[in-house]
Amino acid sequence: MRPTLYISRLLPNPVMAIVRERFQLVQEPLDTLPSPSALRAGLCQADAAIVTLGDRIDAATIHAAVRLKILANYAVGYNNLDLAAAQARGLIVTNTPDVLTDSTADLTWALLLATARRIVEGDALVRSGAWTGWSPTQLLGTDVSGKTLGIIGMGRIGQAVAQRAAGFRMTVLYHQRQPLAAATGPQKWEYRSLHGLLEESDIVTIHVPLTPDTRHLVGARELRRMKPTALLINTARGPIVDEGALAEALTQGTIAGAGLDVYEDEPVVHHTLARLHQVLLLPHIGSATLQARVSMGLICLDNILAVLDGRPAPNQIHAHGGGDA
Ligand code: DGY
Repeated sequence: MRPTLYISRLLPNPVMAIVRERFQLVQEPLDTLPSPSALRAGLCQADAAIVTLGDRIDAATIHAAVRLKILANYAVGYNNLDLAAAQARGLIVTNTPDVLTDSTADLTWALLLATARRIVEGDALVRSGAWTGWSPTQLLGTDVSGKTLGIIGMGRIGQAVAQRAAGFRMTVLYHQRQPLAAATGPQKWEYRSLHGLLEESDIVTIHVPLTPDTRHLVGARELRRMKPTALLINTARGPIVDEGALAEALTQGTIAGAGLDVYEDEPVVHHTLARLHQVLLLPHIGSATLQARVSMGLICLDNILAVLDGRPAPNQIHAHGGGDA
């Protein structure tokens, strides 16, 4: 008898092929978010489950899913589930670190450059047919090379973003709870307090996980510390930034622009942010490369097979963990 598996969303084909060979699916996954009741029903029928960052899994669901042995979260961030409740009931929870570090760091840079150089506005202008040719004053952006990059959260993804900054001859400042051990990063990455980093940086990029401590870490007070020419980039989790305060700061010219891949209440986007030309909006695609998404699925399956075989899960999350967003 193959073990039963619940998958809340359709995963890329190479992963689904392995799933169909090794498991009995509770139901065929769709490419849409399940309703809370469908999610709960699926989890209650399975030995193992793969869930995504849009699935809110609370203590009641965790306690109701008595048969479930492992919840493999198809993401590195795990703010979507009640980890303490899972641990209290002995349910193993895993995530997918490392395999999406490069794709997320690359996307951060794509968003950073596109925001600084107004790439999306340029594309829209050309497609509109209204472009009248080269102009000395058209779509003027801001230089990235040689500027100061402030990284909030120097975990795997923050460090990968920092490494890429070397090609742009940038000064890299970072902030997190503790400075990196000297051996971890080059001396050129300079530690700052949060406010120090905000005051000195030309571009600030966020790479902390969402926890009660980091919710609204960047709000009105923090935005006021930033330079009026500064850009804010967020590819971590939306609620780390107070979107209302960000909309106000952009409208008032407190900061110059923002590039966002994540939102406080996905898929809803703050109405003011959605109409400001100095904001670039992406649909949470940090890890959206075929390679990363297949690898994330394979990691989920490795963890599930380990637990069902009675072995330790290689990527088990423990309640005190932090990690990347
Ligand atoms: C993650 O893994 O946390 C990402 O946000 C998913 O793309």
